[in-house]
Amino acid sequence: MLEGESDMIANMANISALIHREFGFWWTGFYRVCGKELILGPFQGPVACTRIPYGKGVCGSSWQCSETIVVPDVEEFPGHIACSSESRSEIVVPVWRDGRIVAVLDIDSEKLGTFTETDRYWLEKIVSLLG
Ligand code: SME
Repeated sequence: MLEGESDMIANMANISALIHREFGFWWTGFYRVCGKELILGPFQGPVACTRIPYGKGVCGSSWQCSETIVVPDVEEFPGHIACSSESRSEIVVPVWRDGRIVAVLDIDSEKLGTFTETDRYWLEKIVSLLG
């Protein structure tokens, strides 16, 4: 799907559309690193908050610790940013390019405990195609 297309925004748009439709998640999309904050990028699902500071929420924490974060229950994650009260579990995967994090992929589910190590493994592989 990404072959022959080097534009990152276009590829983020198609990746979020594909994952969202195939798996029926609540919200699937990207936040892009812009200075000291994350700004909303291509996504599928309900409207979401547009800016997340470094280190804040699950997205900002994933950026800060440079690792994927799997959250089985968002109410147990201190500082979780609730863009929607329907979201119960979440995974955030950093997107690397040239040794730097340039974005994060955020997926929300309205069910508890949706995401596993298998999701982490394959989502990290998928976003590595963006680099
Ligand atoms: N829950 C995220 C905010 C983004 S929305 O889920 C789309 C967080 O805590 O960073």
